[in-house]
Amino acid sequence: MPDDERVLVIIPAAGSGVRFGGDVPKQFLPLGGKPLVQRVVERFLFDAVVTRVVVPVADMLLSAVKTAPGDRVQFVAGGATRLQSVMRGLEAAGVEFDLIAIHDAVRPFFSLDTFHATLDAARTHGAAFPGMPLPDTVHQIADDAISSTPDRSVLVAAQTPQCFRAEVLRDVIERAAREDADATDEAGLAAKYGHRVQLVRGDSMNFKITRPEDLVMAERIYAEWGGESDA
Ligand code: CTP
Ligand code: MG
Repeated sequence: MPDDERVLVIIPAAGSGVRFGGDVPKQFLPLGGKPLVQRVVERFLFDAVVTRVVVPVADMLLSAVKTAPGDRVQFVAGGATRLQSVMRGLEAAGVEFDLIAIHDAVRPFFSLDTFHATLDAARTHGAAFPGMPLPDTVHQIADDAISSTPDRSVLVAAQTPQCFRAEVLRDVIERAAREDADATDEAGLAAKYGHRVQLVRGDSMNFKITRPEDLVMAERIYAEWGGESDA
């Protein structure tokens, strides 16, 4: 990692967690006694390669998470979609970054090794993401029945942190804004706009907390690891 390289991490945390349900958005639920988003932010802040962390959150929560000037972490208002939240984060962060990583607030078990490998691949290729081969066969469904079965060997499940050279992400975001595009991840958008998006091997532990049972499993894993990620 070059010494003077500036790395921005955007952690979109403005979702409402429809699939999870409940009154409190899942990213604010506790894991080992601390909100998920706080665990994720702290792990990035612990990493010396990270220059700044920007966290888009819902408007109504902004006042609860004020930042002091000079802090490495900054909270900003998110948007109606994940991509809009990322856009707001990018705008608020300014331009002085070389590499930008985007990580879901609800993936508490990402590894710093994979993060660094993904940053390295993005520095070389322009964009990179951690992906996992699929254990299950995947079918396309129409009218509650299989319409086709893609070849599993060419499919991967996308994880985060997804990493980009700053000019690549800016190009992707500008084009998406112009076309009013939406997407569930930026890696796919970058590929759609003609950028090479390098695959890096992901981790099975880096699952996304999507439904209540995922948080139950996360609590078990956290307890077994003895809370080693506590700062
Ligand atoms: N996200 C965001 N702004 C949005 C929507 C999502 O910042 N308008 C964030 C979520 O907070 C989460 C990440 O994007 O950290 C991944 O999204 P997902 O797991 O889909 O979370 P939600 O969109 O909140 O959940 P659901 O799709 O079930 O509603
Ligand atoms: Mg969502």
